[in-house]
Amino acid sequence: MKQQFPLEKFKQLQTPFYYYDMDVLEKTLEAVTNEANKHNYHIHYAVKANANPRILSVISKAGLGADCVSGGEIQAALKAGFPAEKIVFAGVGKADWEINLGLDENISCFNVESIPELEVIGELAAAKGKVARIAIRINPEVDAHTHHHITTGTKEDKFGINIEQIDKVIDKIDSFSSLKLTGMHFHIGSQITEMEPFAGLFVKAVELERYLSQRRIFLENINFGGGLGIDYKHPDSNPVPDFKAWFEIFRKYFPARPGQQVHFEPGRSIVGQCGSLISKVLYVKEGVFKRFVVLDAGFTELIRPAFYDAYHEIENLSSDETQDIYDVVGPICESSDIFAKACKLNKAHRGDYIALRSAGAYGEVMAMQYNCRKLPGVYFSDSIEI
Ligand SMILES: Cc1ncc(COP(=O)(O)O)c(C=O)c1O
Repeated sequence: MKQQFPLEKFKQLQTPFYYYDMDVLEKTLEAVTNEANKHNYHIHYAVKANANPRILSVISKAGLGADCVSGGEIQAALKAGFPAEKIVFAGVGKADWEINLGLDENISCFNVESIPELEVIGELAAAKGKVARIAIRINPEVDAHTHHHITTGTKEDKFGINIEQIDKVIDKIDSFSSLKLTGMHFHIGSQITEMEPFAGLFVKAVELERYLSQRRIFLENINFGGGLGIDYKHPDSNPVPDFKAWFEIFRKYFPARPGQQVHFEPGRSIVGQCGSLISKVLYVKEGVFKRFVVLDAGFTELIRPAFYDAYHEIENLSSDETQDIYDVVGPICESSDIFAKACKLNKAHRGDYIALRSAGAYGEVMAMQYNCRKLPGVYFSDSIEI
């Protein structure tokens, strides 16, 4: 169903701004929790995708846990109502204050990415007389076939610990009474739309489990990370990702052992489709060979196209005239500030309202003030009273 935008209300607001359709978010949360409950899977929302306090609070109320990658995210998650026992903390460079915060708040687990990090967590936990629960983030050497900036599970990536080092890591954990090994953590990348890379992940996970059980190590939890992609080309016909298919493939290839919890950390698939960046056309500019639509939003509000060559559907909300072809660009003084080239858009005029769709994930949260710009406004469909 085509998403409706309250254009008359938009006309009273300063652009650019993010607009969240809370109905889409609620439906997505309902789908992910229903499907996860069928398999008794545990979902930690990846806060990095969107840390807006209102969005976080809706997600925490739906009963999801939080996957955090910084002390700031842990604080934001706690403030939004996520219970500490449902917070996990990943990241290749955890600072001491962030580790101390996790220890003080008794978060559920540290997903550890290196031996030096283990040593620091071990020492800081010992100093507090605590035992830190540890999951080892394994680099499974699986190529997610996604953009190279969002692939994380190959040998060349900075993330995780290589499988060959597993014995050293376990010995290190054993050497600290302040550390307890509770699980394994994997994450191969983001915006994964084919299921085949996940199959490569299961092979590694099953192999590793077999090896650990020979060493008489039982893992309480296996965390398969996030990565499920969304349909950027068809946000109206596919507003809710196929969580059913995603979980079923894990169920099929990775049968959990009795007493073992399976965890996931979806980010994009939870919040991607509920958000749009709303912007106004400043100018329609005739070039020599092309025509440009210059928006009042740029990569300072939505960096994904400049950063990852990402695609977003672009709609002219103000025009139902026949389509023309435009390069849609922002006002930032950088030549990479382009949202789309040769984009078909209903004929555009100065002042038209433009929606950049599927911008709920890695959108607002990455907004910046380069060029001394203001951060974008934020409005929600259920409270846009003006
Ligand atoms: C460790 C980890 N978990 C979860 C996620 C969320 O991924 P996605 O938004 O693709 O679901 C990421 C994203 O980079 C990640 O690094």
